[in-house]
Amino acid sequence: MKFCIVVGTRPQIIKSQPIINELISRKKDFTIVHTGQHYDYEMSRTFFQELKIDKPDYNLGINRGSDSSQLAQIIKKLEIILTKIKPDVVIVPGDTRSALGGALSVNRLGLKLAHVEAGARSNDFELEEEINRRLIDNCSNFLFAPTLSCAKNLKKEGVLGSVFNVGDTMYDVFLNYKKILKLKQFSKEDFILMTIHRRENILDITKMKKIIDIANFISKHGYKVVFPIHPHTKKQIKNFGISTENIQITDPVNYSKMLILLSKTKLLLTDSGGLQKEAYWSNTPCVTFRKSTEWIETLKEKNNFLIPEISDNTKNKILHILESQNSKKKPLKNYFGNGKAANKIISILLN
Ligand code: UD1
Repeated sequence: MKFCIVVGTRPQIIKSQPIINELISRKKDFTIVHTGQHYDYEMSRTFFQELKIDKPDYNLGINRGSDSSQLAQIIKKLEIILTKIKPDVVIVPGDTRSALGGALSVNRLGLKLAHVEAGARSNDFELEEEINRRLIDNCSNFLFAPTLSCAKNLKKEGVLGSVFNVGDTMYDVFLNYKKILKLKQFSKEDFILMTIHRRENILDITKMKKIIDIANFISKHGYKVVFPIHPHTKKQIKNFGISTENIQITDPVNYSKMLILLSKTKLLLTDSGGLQKEAYWSNTPCVTFRKSTEWIETLKEKNNFLIPEISDNTKNKILHILESQNSKKKPLKNYFGNGKAANKIISILLN
C-alpha cells in the first residue's frame, strides 16, 4: 500500500512526524509533498531536521500570489504529482491552504483522502482555517478526530466519510519530546512567553499595538517577556513602527526549544492553535487573543482564557491570571488520546 502526505506549514510538519515515523517503522512506501507555503529555514527546514524526517520528495514552491491563486496552484501542481505516484491514500493534516488544496486535488482525482485533526471547530465564519477544515472534512474518506468533541462535531454534521476518534498526533510528538527533553511541568520561572501570528491580530495596527502594550505592561511588573516572532508578525511590527524595547524578541525557535520554554514559563500569551494545547499539556496557563477556540477542553479545565476584545481591563485581568497561578497545581485531565494516535491511524488505513 502506498501513502502520500501533503504538508506546507510548521504545525503540519509537527503533526505529521509521528505518522511518518509509524510508516518508517512498518516499512511502508510513502511520499512526502511540501507545498512550499512556509519556506523560511526557521519555519520549515529546521523542523524536518530536528524531528528527523527525511526532506520532502517534492517541493511545489508555492508561496506567492493571492490566497486563491496559491490554492489553485496547489491543486494543479499536486494533480501532476499524484497522477505520477498513484498513492492508495493521501493524508492531509490540519487546516491550512495546503491541506485544502491537497484535499480538493485528491478528491477530484478519485483517490482516497485521510484528514488528520478532523472535526476541530471554532465556529468562526471569518477564519480561513475554519472554512478549510469544514471543506476538507466533507471530502475525506477517513476522518481522524483528535478528541471526542471533534468526533461528535463530525457526527452532528453528517459527514460522508468514516469517523475515528484516535487522539491527537501533536500529543504523540509532545509526549515523545517530553521524555527526550526530560521536561518538568512544575518548576516555573519568572518569564512570560508570547507568540502572535494570526491575520486578525497582526494586520490591524490598533490590535497589534494593544498586544505589544500588554507585553510591555507585564514586563514592567517584573516578568521578562520572551517573544519568538513569526516572520509575518515581525514585518507588520516594523511596518507599523511599534516599539518593542521591553520585550525580548527572538527568531522563531525550534520545536525542542519551544517545549522547553513552554514548560518553564509562568504564562503563555498566544493566538496559536497548537500552542494552546501544548500549554495545557505542559501545565502552563494560557491567554489566547481570539474570539473562540477549537480546543474547548482547555477552557473547560480553566487552563486557557480567551480574550475576544482587548479593553482597558485586559492588562489587569492577565496580571491577575498570572499572579493567581498555583505552581503546585494537579496535572490536568487528558482529552487528547494516549500518545498512540499515529499508530491507530496507520492501523486503520492498512485495514
Ligand atoms: C495556525 C493555523 C494554521 C496556519 C498556521 C500559520 C489554526 C488552528 N491553524 O496554526 O492553519 O498554517 O497557524 O503558522 O489556526 N512552534 C515552534 N516554534 C515557534 C513557534 C511555534 O516550534 O517559534 C511550534 C509550536 O510548538 C506548535 C506549532 O509550532 O507545535 C504551532 O505552530 P503555529 O505557527 O503557532 O501554528 P498554529 O496556530 O497551530
